[in-house]
Amino acid sequence: MKKFLVIGNPIEHSLSPILHNYWIKKNGIDAVYEKQKLNEDQLGQLILQVKKKEINGINVTVPFKKAIIPFLDKLSIEAKSTQSVNTIYLEDNKVMGHNTDIVGFETSIKKSKYNFINKEVLILGAGGVVPSIIFALNQMKVSKIKISNRTKEKVENLKKLFENIEIIEWGEVPNFDVIINATSIGLKKEDNINLDFSLISKNKIFYDVIYNPKETNFLKTGQSLGNVTLNGKLMFIYQALSAFNIWHKFEPDVDENVIKLLD
Ligand code: ATR
Repeated sequence: MKKFLVIGNPIEHSLSPILHNYWIKKNGIDAVYEKQKLNEDQLGQLILQVKKKEINGINVTVPFKKAIIPFLDKLSIEAKSTQSVNTIYLEDNKVMGHNTDIVGFETSIKKSKYNFINKEVLILGAGGVVPSIIFALNQMKVSKIKISNRTKEKVENLKKLFENIEIIEWGEVPNFDVIINATSIGLKKEDNINLDFSLISKNKIFYDVIYNPKETNFLKTGQSLGNVTLNGKLMFIYQALSAFNIWHKFEPDVDENVIKLLD
């Protein structure tokens, strides 16, 4: 039986096992997908298990997406450009690191029938998933990427990877067509981002990477001010689908059950 894992710290709340095990079972694959909480000093040992084929694939989540890189043999262009790995597999006896958050984000927009060409995008936050979102936005040919983060040093570090981003002071709300919440504000239902959107005109897109809760206060505010809202559920599903495709060599269906599983 093949074994797959998602690693992170914390990891209890990860829904990756539910999704992957649903597809594994539905397609009659002899495999299991588990979650494991780790400390950074255990990463090297874990990668050895991939080399020995004791583990067939790993998803990596916060806070190890960058920390895992020194232990890998090879990175895809996407992983290298974002310094972020969320999917690991063995190819020609080399442990490979790839990033499927990028395609997950991009597919979530396409499936929602939006087009970001020439749009101005404001990203809130500079955490683990933001390099992937910037990479995807550049591929989608947006006209401008503005980023605002409470800790300015983190955006300044991002600017070393992506020269074209514009840094916005935390607290300021410049003009945008699309705004993306990539902070962890909203994971708790009562969380509120202290930003004033009341001067922004209508018909913008408010995107929250968070999908649980389904509707954060950020999205509620966006909607009440007359904007379109999207949560991160499709991004989560399509990053998982892309990892599944790498490991099992086919694309599983995104049927209604998949959508319901994550409610
Ligand atoms: P990490 O920073 O470890 O990658 P993350 O969950 O990916 O973790 O990112 C959390 C993001 O939410 C960060 O951008 C963080 O801002 P800081 O860099 O200043 O820490 C942001 N964040 C979390 N709580 C916040 C708050 N109360 N106000 C503003 N930003 C907050």
